[in-house]
Amino acid sequence: MSNRDFIDSFVDMIRDVFSTDEFVPLHAPCFGDLEKELVLETLTSTFVSSVGQFVNEFEVQLAEYTGAGFVVATNTGTAALHTALHLLGVRSTDEVITTPLTFVATCNAISYCGARPIFVDVDQDSLGLSPTRLAEFLEEYGEIREDGFCWNKSSERVIRACVPVHNLGHSAKIDEIAAICTNYNIAVIEDAAESLGSWSNNVHTGRHGLMGTLSFNGNKIITTGGGGALITDDAVLAQRARHISTTAKQPHPWLFKHDEVGFNYRLPNLNAALGCAQMKQLDRFVLEKRQLAAYYEEWFGDWPKASFFTEPPNSRSNYWLNAILLDDRAARDDFLDRTNRVGVMTRPMWTPMHTLPMYQNCQRTDLTNAEWIEERLVNIPSSATKLSTNE
Ligand SMILES: Cc1ncc(COP(=O)(O)O)c(C=O)c1O
Repeated sequence: MSNRDFIDSFVDMIRDVFSTDEFVPLHAPCFGDLEKELVLETLTSTFVSSVGQFVNEFEVQLAEYTGAGFVVATNTGTAALHTALHLLGVRSTDEVITTPLTFVATCNAISYCGARPIFVDVDQDSLGLSPTRLAEFLEEYGEIREDGFCWNKSSERVIRACVPVHNLGHSAKIDEIAAICTNYNIAVIEDAAESLGSWSNNVHTGRHGLMGTLSFNGNKIITTGGGGALITDDAVLAQRARHISTTAKQPHPWLFKHDEVGFNYRLPNLNAALGCAQMKQLDRFVLEKRQLAAYYEEWFGDWPKASFFTEPPNSRSNYWLNAILLDDRAARDDFLDRTNRVGVMTRPMWTPMHTLPMYQNCQRTDLTNAEWIEERLVNIPSSATKLSTNE
């Protein structure tokens, strides 16, 4: 069986699964009548901006779903990350450990605080930050000094936080990562932008560290158009996040008084209305995406040319973006080229952060696994869809 036959069969299978001869997107949002009703209700009420019932309601629904003590809705996932790092006091003399395999927003949020990322390699079986590589790095460079913080002996800067990412919806080995960070007094902020609906050791992603962040961008499992949230069990941090993301405005019926430099990061009511309706569909989205993943797993089981990436042990994934691993970069590029040319959207992994011009001089561990994955991984169509086999 040639590579070409394999790709042709894949395209036929995708057209069958999504019942279309037209363009198949990587991930399309799905809106029902309730979405239209609640958005219209917001327009009729005229409360489209920062005041309105839907922001609170959306936060309550997210808290119930994730189990988080507190939720602060923001206008992007990037804003939630920036807020979380800012609240930790991350500043220009600091460093933040993260992974090179992430969307650029993770590193940008670190840069907004003036700090520098340190790139630690990922594991091949989770796509997330490797606890082994993290422990090795901190063993070599980390030193707790008199101020109680972990200093990087090579840069003479404080490593104030670690931001592991749950890539493509799969959980990183977050409990191990959190335990290592606790030993070095490094705060953990989980970038759970892609993993609403994913659990690690029966705890929702984003709840294993001090704070977690979510994204509701148009391509995520649920969307508010643009949006995000900061989740935490810490009441003081939640209150600070709410304040700082509302331009640090002191509550008052008519006076505009701000007690520090804040951000205009709160989620508008219009977007939250969409979010409330989307939350009602979340269980179905997760179920259908997991069924699609199971179908793919079986289908790719028959093909030696590709292996389907399945959820890591002790976790339950939302399978936000399904992924296959091909033999090498040439096979990857051929697959990407042929599928996109016939209207089946596929995509490589994010370009690793340490290769981007603004992050190429950052300190890093050996990144063999991240590079291995980036050379081989392809995301395939992943929209929630009702499979005919489930009818
Ligand atoms: C891993 C990761 N972090 C952060 C973000 C940023 O979220 P947003 O686009 O809502 O700002 C995204 C997605 O867009 C993401 O995939």
